[in-house]
Amino acid sequence: MKTITVNASKTYDVVIGNGILPEIGSRCRELSAAKTVALISDSNVAPLYAKNVEDSLTGAGFRVVSFVFPAGEQSKNADVYLQILAFLAENQLGRKDLIVALGGGVCGDMAGFAAATYLRGIDFVQVPTSLLAMVDSSVGGKTAIDLPQGKNLVGAFHQPILVLCDMALLETLPQENFLDGCGEIVKYGVLGDRNLLKLLTETKICFPREDVIARCVEMKRDVVNADEFEGGLRMLLNLGHTLGHAVEKCSHFSLSHGACVAIGLAVVTRGAVKKGYCSAEDGKAILSAISALGLPSETAIGMDDLMDSMLNDKKRTSGSITCVVPYGIGDCRRETMTLMEVRNFMEAGM
Ligand code: GLY
Repeated sequence: MKTITVNASKTYDVVIGNGILPEIGSRCRELSAAKTVALISDSNVAPLYAKNVEDSLTGAGFRVVSFVFPAGEQSKNADVYLQILAFLAENQLGRKDLIVALGGGVCGDMAGFAAATYLRGIDFVQVPTSLLAMVDSSVGGKTAIDLPQGKNLVGAFHQPILVLCDMALLETLPQENFLDGCGEIVKYGVLGDRNLLKLLTETKICFPREDVIARCVEMKRDVVNADEFEGGLRMLLNLGHTLGHAVEKCSHFSLSHGACVAIGLAVVTRGAVKKGYCSAEDGKAILSAISALGLPSETAIGMDDLMDSMLNDKKRTSGSITCVVPYGIGDCRRETMTLMEVRNFMEAGM
């Protein structure tokens, strides 16, 4: 078992281990004087794990009330968010009470946003059940819901008081969902760990999960400790996402987030090698890890459509787009480019 401590505006532990779900009640009790816990989960995850979590919380002396919403990104909206707030109010949760988010990124983001805003903010705990949520979204306090105009357009920074990652929960994860997290893992390797990329290339999807998840969380912890509110450094975590989000939107979300991030990473890597920013050797190491994990590295979507989509991205400022460019493994830099420069750079990497 590994414990990684985040020192942001709140200090909290990310605990990573195998079979640790039954510890959720006692761990919450150590941290919280809550009377009531609202367990928030989705219709895929709740039938598998909610009873275990409820029993553990009840055993630790909490009153538990459960809210289950239909699984899927389409639930991460204002209606479901308001239903959660109404549920919390109907069940009379007070300022000292607690939310436990049991699920993937959608659940963590939405339950976290409910925790950030209900009674101007109450404590919450993340129990991520997907690889993507374990390595990225459950750590760092970004919470949000989507609007019809785009993803994550309403949100808040609100750190959890605990993140509990149980490897055993990954056993029931469909393969495609598992690969979703692999795109983010390669991203962390490119951002700062050559050995991680080597390990992924050698072990493929049989990589040692606990070690790899812990390494990604350590790297994310370092970024969040230094730049919790995304003034600069944290934007590096968007590596591969500018083009990745565009591919995701142009494919009408038929491709998974992880596949799109992998395509985005591959394109900026090839672009950086072609432009002479990144060595061919580092480029090869990045592309080999992507292919070893069975992730895609190319798209047939045309540059006109991708540019249109990038122009609508919320991170764009007028007339320019900020991209993260890999100058080498462990040397990624934010660069603000004109639209023509972005097109030229991405086309070099297609
Ligand atoms: N997922 C990127 C971040 O937390 O900043």
